[in-house]
Amino acid sequence: MTISCLALACSPRKNGNTAILAKRALDACAAAGCTTDYLYLAGYNYRPCQACGGCNKTGRCVIDDDARVIYEKILAADRLIVAAPIFSMGICAQAKMLIDRAQQFWATKYLLKRNVITGNNRTPRKGIFISCAGTTLPGVFTGAQRVVQYFFKMLEVELLAQLCFDGVDDKGDILKHQHALEQAAAYGRMLAAGRPRMQ
Ligand SMILES: Cc1cc2nc3c(=O)[nH]c(=O)nc-3n(C[C@H](O)[C@H](O)[C@H](O)COP(=O)(O)O)c2cc1C
Repeated sequence: MTISCLALACSPRKNGNTAILAKRALDACAAAGCTTDYLYLAGYNYRPCQACGGCNKTGRCVIDDDARVIYEKILAADRLIVAAPIFSMGICAQAKMLIDRAQQFWATKYLLKRNVITGNNRTPRKGIFISCAGTTLPGVFTGAQRVVQYFFKMLEVELLAQLCFDGVDDKGDILKHQHALEQAAAYGRMLAAGRPRMQ
């Protein structure tokens, strides 16, 4: 059975620094035999959480928009790559807006006491976080890393690594950082290792 790997490219800057790293990881994953999917989030239409509390009763978000499609893909994937830059000292809005919509999984787990991943698909899922920041300010990634840790926990995905590169600002700057490119590819290969979930 083939392992599937999904990358969420959260930056609105198409083919920017975080997207380049996500593609390196995904390419390495594909070369190792995985099926891959790449989502450019800014191309999807979804709203922020309305805090209506609807998901508290059902474990399902009441808003019918593209977040449903994205989450179907996320829940179906064996491996997850979240690639998002730092905007205003936190994770970019496209990522945060999607992550807040994961409140439905928090409700599933903690209010309804149900598993998010159901059926026989219990083999641990794995993923990584990739980020870039223009500055080298201490703690520039801290907030984003906490958010992503929470997101992966909600989705029952083991967070293998947070690959965060600072001092990377202009589009394509990351191409000058060979170490970052190699690390992304190495983690892509690592994601490809292991057993996929049973169907
Ligand atoms: C709206 C906006 C806000 C930003 N805020 C920060 C910031 O607070 N700290 C920082 O280090 N870089 C900041 N940056 C720089 C980006 O993190 C940096 O350019 C990064 O490489 C972008 O990655 P991308 O090409 O994947 O979009 C900001 C960029 C934008 C467009």
